[in-house]
Amino acid sequence: MPLSRSLSVTSLSGLDDWTEELDLEDAVLFEIAWEVANKVGGIYTVIQTKARLTAEEWGENYFLVGPYMESNVRTQVELIEPPSQAVKRTIDNMNSAGCKVHFGRWLIEGSPYVVLIDVGFTAWSLDRWKNELWDSCGIGMPWFDREANDAVLFGFLTAWFLGEFAAQCDKPPHILAHFHEWLAGLGLVLCRQRQLPVATIFTTHATLLGRYLCAANIDFYNNLSNFNVDKEAGDRQIYHRYCLERAAAHCAHIFTTVSQITAIEAEHLLKRKPDVVTPNGLNVKKFSATHEFQNLHAHSKARIQEFVRGHFYGQLDFNLDKSVFLFIAGRYEFCNKGADIFLEALARLNYLLRVKNSDVTVIAFFIMPARTNNFNVESLKGQAVRKQLWDTAQTVKEKFGKKLYESLLVGQLPDVSKMLDKEDFTMMKRAIFSTQRQCQPPICTHNMLDDGSDPILNSLRRIGLFNSSADRVKVIFHPEFLSSTSPLLPMDYEEFVRGCHLGVFPSYYEPWGYTPAECTVMGIPSISTNLSGFGCFMEEHIADPSAYGVYILDRRYRSVDESCNQLTSFLLQFCQQSRRQRIIQRNRTERLSDLLDWRYLGRYYISARYTALATAFPDTYCYEPQDPTSKKGFSYPRPASIPPSPAMSRHSSPHHSDDDDHERYDEDLEAEKDRLNFRQPSSLHPCNKNASESIPASDGSSDA
Ligand code: UDP
Ligand code: G6P
Ligand code: GLC
Repeated sequence: MPLSRSLSVTSLSGLDDWTEELDLEDAVLFEIAWEVANKVGGIYTVIQTKARLTAEEWGENYFLVGPYMESNVRTQVELIEPPSQAVKRTIDNMNSAGCKVHFGRWLIEGSPYVVLIDVGFTAWSLDRWKNELWDSCGIGMPWFDREANDAVLFGFLTAWFLGEFAAQCDKPPHILAHFHEWLAGLGLVLCRQRQLPVATIFTTHATLLGRYLCAANIDFYNNLSNFNVDKEAGDRQIYHRYCLERAAAHCAHIFTTVSQITAIEAEHLLKRKPDVVTPNGLNVKKFSATHEFQNLHAHSKARIQEFVRGHFYGQLDFNLDKSVFLFIAGRYEFCNKGADIFLEALARLNYLLRVKNSDVTVIAFFIMPARTNNFNVESLKGQAVRKQLWDTAQTVKEKFGKKLYESLLVGQLPDVSKMLDKEDFTMMKRAIFSTQRQCQPPICTHNMLDDGSDPILNSLRRIGLFNSSADRVKVIFHPEFLSSTSPLLPMDYEEFVRGCHLGVFPSYYEPWGYTPAECTVMGIPSISTNLSGFGCFMEEHIADPSAYGVYILDRRYRSVDESCNQLTSFLLQFCQQSRRQRIIQRNRTERLSDLLDWRYLGRYYISARYTALATAFPDTYCYEPQDPTSKKGFSYPRPASIPPSPAMSRHSSPHHSDDDDHERYDEDLEAEKDRLNFRQPSSLHPCNKNASESIPASDGSSDA
């Protein structure tokens, strides 16, 4: 165990350096969340992607604590004996007192240790613990809320674990416990109530009330200071959850959230201003070949095209090479995630593409899990038909090839009219006949349980987008997260994103929003909003985000209809780009990835942790936080070459190949690097506030 650690975050493509030092002595870090090794949404992504950096910093003294779920453990965790005697004794003691606590390594980058607690196994304690919660904190829990019951069990068990661990340490330990979101928050409250020697951090990734009020279509941001929070929580039957969340926020030594916009929301709704904003990062993979991500796009796109061929069998009357793949993905919160305005904008886009006689076809994917009972027959049949056509073509090709070969072997040119026989034609005709269909290609890939009340399906019915031949915008609703083992669309989410052209995330309520951030680091343009943490962060750090393929929709100062028009115009503009413009834009998008790397953003977590230790153990730790946010001057400058707008799309010759594209985007890349001296931090150093202003916006003459 290293006695002292210092951390230096090195320069990334001109981003500023940041160095912090704190003698961590024997401090031990526990990070506690319901989404440890348990995927629900973005919190899982935070914990999973950050693990490597945190494990590098804390080594053997870093433990994640989450719920034990058998199916997750089977696929993600290697169960092992705890390496530390204190942890081992803690777990043994708990298990002999009637708990089921497991220990292992989570098989992700960084391979962190995980302590997994089976909350169901201790459900017999629920009533007793609820009484204790009422007696000690005055928070009453109803019996019917399963999630809240889990929160009570998880809270009492984690506090038990931390208390037991403190007792098992040979000398007084310095424990730092970082709790994420209300579901884990009760553990923090109990640590403080029991006066355990634990420095605590609470990070909220959204407020309960914020999520509920926005989902109810309330004018949220204009009324933030006016809500009667207790009444609103009571009206929505979440008062008990709200109490847990608010108690955790107030009891924490350090309270953090993921964006400035959620910090303001938390201040109004939870009545505490966050001490630190910890923006979410990602584990950015860098390829040794600069254009590898472009190749990956082409490869994944080909796989999506195959799926589309099957899905639209019998009605493949559009040019797949001129098709643009858009997608929205995430938890199914129809209005919060902006699926409502995306659908409306698609209807308007469909109209515009039709009146313009455009040869572009848009395929919009909705990847949002809903209640289903498996894939529907028509979707599966589509893929089977495609496969049959492929197999038929392969069989005929083989026979053809064999005859050709035999003819060449005897020195003769083949008689082409005899290359295929009657049997071949019959086989091909049968295959073609099987592609006839009586219905339109399906909208939804699954049988929906709530078909009649499903908001996406109902909107599609209202706006009349039914995948008809005349529509230039087609829709595919996949109400399940993607998986590489799916019999229908066997791709994992990352592969799918890489193969698409544009992610569309017009959220109204989005504390951060990983989905557009993930697009950015994969070099895929995206649309987010100025009500999402990610959108605001990018607006703050990039002079002209849309030139980099980061479109930020204005949902703050415009009416819904105006935002919808703006979204439609983003989509139309995107559809009018040439392939070359898309390639250049993807290069620019990918160049932003350093900004979203944990190696850069991890500093905020580090600062929060050191501050918590210094607050809880002032005799041992002394830390004066440098404000990691003080360097506001940093901004990615406007790209030097022409923006990829369709108006500027004039080729010197009518046709150009992909090779031309590659040359052109290489030029674009090099020209921009030279022009901006991009890799020399001095010219872009955050202190040089005028750095971005000193770079003139190009008149367009430089590109290509
Ligand atoms: N996601 C996924 N599979 C899918 C669609 C989405 O794993 O098919 C993940 C995505 O990678 C992202 C997370 O779900 O990390 C959603 O996080 P976000 O912060 O955008 O929203 P949240 O669900 O937390 O509100
Ligand atoms: C990548 C590949 C190119 C391909 C292009 C397609 O850049 O390296 O070979 O032509 O993707 O781009 P598109 O935007 O049309 O999918
Ligand atoms: C929450 C938010 C989402 C954020 C994620 C991770 O689920 O809804 O916007 O990205 O947490 O912080």
